[in-house]
Amino acid sequence: MKFLIHRPRRLRQNARLRALVRETELNAGDFIMPYFVCEGSRVKKPVASMPGVFQMSVDELVKDCRETQKLGIGGVILFGIPAKKDDKASGAYAQDGIVQRAVRELREKVSDLVVVTDVCLCEYMSHGQCGIVSKMRGKEFAIENDATLELLAMTAISHARAGADIIAPSDMMDGRVAAIRRALDAEGLSQTPIMSYAAKFASAFYGPFRDAAQSPPQFGDRRSYQMDFANAEEALREVALDIEEGADIVMVKPALGYLDLVWRVKQKFGYPTAVYNVSGEYSMLKAASRNGWLDEKAVALEMLTGFKRAGADIIVTYWAKDAARWLQSS
Ligand code: PBG
Repeated sequence: MKFLIHRPRRLRQNARLRALVRETELNAGDFIMPYFVCEGSRVKKPVASMPGVFQMSVDELVKDCRETQKLGIGGVILFGIPAKKDDKASGAYAQDGIVQRAVRELREKVSDLVVVTDVCLCEYMSHGQCGIVSKMRGKEFAIENDATLELLAMTAISHARAGADIIAPSDMMDGRVAAIRRALDAEGLSQTPIMSYAAKFASAFYGPFRDAAQSPPQFGDRRSYQMDFANAEEALREVALDIEEGADIVMVKPALGYLDLVWRVKQKFGYPTAVYNVSGEYSMLKAASRNGWLDEKAVALEMLTGFKRAGADIIVTYWAKDAARWLQSS
């Protein structure tokens, strides 16, 4: 028999030893659960491409968030589906807009829940782009960066006034964190933190979300503002800019194919780092598990643990509630 000094298997012999040396532990408190809020009452409409995910009216949202809160989940992030869209995204910053109403109701009816609001215009624009569109010429169009910043700032103020705990801009316009920070401060909302989607890539993994939020671009794509997925150095520059502009939490999105960046962002900046486990990542495992090809619970927990191991402090995931239950029963 060969003499071996190192036998890493010594610590893998049984569940007790494995638990003792486990480095990464998932907690429900790390998760943020996304919600799609729509008009009406008693609406809980399944999203076809995302089994287990629903569009919900405010009353249903309140009910669901009570469960989420009881499970010890860190927070929720709200996306709005307005009754009407236009080319100024009026619904995004309306006092009585869908997200503003949802936030007020949650504030009143569900205590102890961190409410994050996604700040973007695509769900409220008739054309589905995340900014103001100009210079339409055939297939050519431009997004007006600086004019869009004003609408984003108005949206952020309206969310914070309604009672949002954290503002999360996901539009990828240049300078939006500074614009939002300045606007919030000028309104006496200097205590409202910003979680910026700092390194957000133009990803085909957002497909199912655009069904859920009814926000696919009606023409073109988002590649003039969301990042090229081939670029990591540029992503680090984007994160640096958002931090300079006042971001309190920085996010990398999507998650699965981007863990090099989660790691680098956490190592380089040491900031609270979030990762968005996006719709396509959710739907592909759902599909595989429905086919009997993958074990949903085992694979989801493995992925979520991988995100945390890579350096994520916060994980935005459609599995938040399921995973919280799985963790309780394991
Ligand atoms: C809004 C927004 C999107 C997502 C989060 N915020 C869609 C997009 O940028 O096209 C995607 C989330 C997901 O896929 O789960 N801009």
